[in-house]
Amino acid sequence: MAERIRVALAGATGRTGREVGRAVVAAPDMELVAAIGARHAGEHLGALWGDPDLDVTIVDSVARAAAAAPEVLIDFTEAESAFPRLMEAVARGWSIVVGTTGFRAEQREALARAVAEHQVGAALIANFSVGAWVAERLAEQAARYFTAVEVVEGHHATKKDRPSGTALRMATLLARTWRRDPDDIPVHAIRLPGLVAHQTVIFGAAGQVLSIRHDVHDRSAYADGVLAAVRKMHSLRGRLVDDLGDILQS
Ligand SMILES: NC(=O)c1ccc[n+]([C@@H]2O[C@H](COP(=O)([O-])OP(=O)(O)OC[C@H]3O[C@@H](n4cnc5c(N)ncnc54)[C@H](OP(=O)(O)O)[C@@H]3O)[C@@H](O)[C@H]2O)c1
Repeated sequence: MAERIRVALAGATGRTGREVGRAVVAAPDMELVAAIGARHAGEHLGALWGDPDLDVTIVDSVARAAAAAPEVLIDFTEAESAFPRLMEAVARGWSIVVGTTGFRAEQREALARAVAEHQVGAALIANFSVGAWVAERLAEQAARYFTAVEVVEGHHATKKDRPSGTALRMATLLARTWRRDPDDIPVHAIRLPGLVAHQTVIFGAAGQVLSIRHDVHDRSAYADGVLAAVRKMHSLRGRLVDDLGDILQS
């Protein structure tokens, strides 16, 4: 059997990281070798996940995770702590698959430069769910025939960034199609308990409305896209991609 891909995970105790991490553990071609966290550093991930077979202790830094020799770091945390962690991981020659949102433009640019310099693969993707990517393609089609749109996104009450990275990306795609400024596309953000991740792109024209809606009810929705990105890393050396299509279509 071919060597399994050695994966480190930052955010393993979080809502999304936990789902993604379980998918890594279940994948026959991957091995979860390290977990990086803050509040739970020193604890056994297997105990936290209720998986006694999983022998991974959460560490608080890339330097400590390096002892397990990961090849790919998956990150679902928050942008300010993620940025230096990702820069260090790249400098160590690890590829990065990043779901964390909220990076500033200069942070994204610095990551892209580091990825090129160290010739690792990188995916910095605002939404790893296939449905959200298809919704973008449908919205791009619709934008050819409509000129008025508003984006409404809803997330759980504790989401840190607003509007969501997915909604900002949608506004940017539509603005590009229409050669307008992304700030001209109205984006409404709702934060409520009971929501997970939802987005509706509403196009309006005389006498009609077209809505393109995507709902995530369960964070397992992100796992397939993340696993596909991990498998793709070896062929992305020196490149940072931000479109799930770059993972799914090639
Ligand atoms: N791209 C996508 O498809 C997608 C999908 C869903 C969510 N997201 C994004 O993923 C991120 C996480 O979302 P979530 O809802 O899963 O958040 P969450 O439940 O609040 O989990 C956050 C995780 O980050 C870790 N963390 C926080 N500060 C840290 C630090 N300084 N060092 C190391 N780890 C730290 C936490 O670990 P401790 O408990 O140990 O502190 C926890 O495991 C957000 O940016 C969100 O927007 C992206």
